[in-house]
Amino acid sequence: MGVIDLPKYELTSEENIKANKIISKYKGKRGALIPVLQNIQETVGFLPLDVQRKVADELGIPEKDVYGVVTFYSFFTMVPRGKCNIRVCMGTACFVKGAKRIVENISNLLGIKPGQTTTDRNYSLQINRCLGACGIAPIMVINDKVYQKVDPDKVIDIINKYPQ
Ligand code: FES
Repeated sequence: MGVIDLPKYELTSEENIKANKIISKYKGKRGALIPVLQNIQETVGFLPLDVQRKVADELGIPEKDVYGVVTFYSFFTMVPRGKCNIRVCMGTACFVKGAKRIVENISNLLGIKPGQTTTDRNYSLQINRCLGACGIAPIMVINDKVYQKVDPDKVIDIINKYPQ
């Protein structure tokens, strides 16, 4: 199916129940693909392959068509957001002040690439464009907290402050 290389993300059993409820509402309705996917994503936050498979079965459409829609529209995601959501600015000012090393160090620590989440869903790593605060570059944001003038060599100490 040409599935992109992603860690295997799964719904919790509680999320599964919610997703199944939504899917059963749309059972057999072929034109309902986008609404059902939207509804599930709004409810559980992402659309893993297992869920796509169920949607395909219940709506009676090929799995690859569901996958095609999920990967085509940027508002759909197959990646859950981590409890600790790390965003690193890679705008020019941050980049020249070491943002690339910040990202590399976090990637190595957590074993994920930018755009991914650890399979335990504790951490996610994202790259941002300029956040408009170049004077305090390089910048990293964890959930709502902004870290300024981040030293790439100390970034692991910051991440480790966040409980798993
Ligand atoms: S480049 Fe990072 S805040 Fe502007």
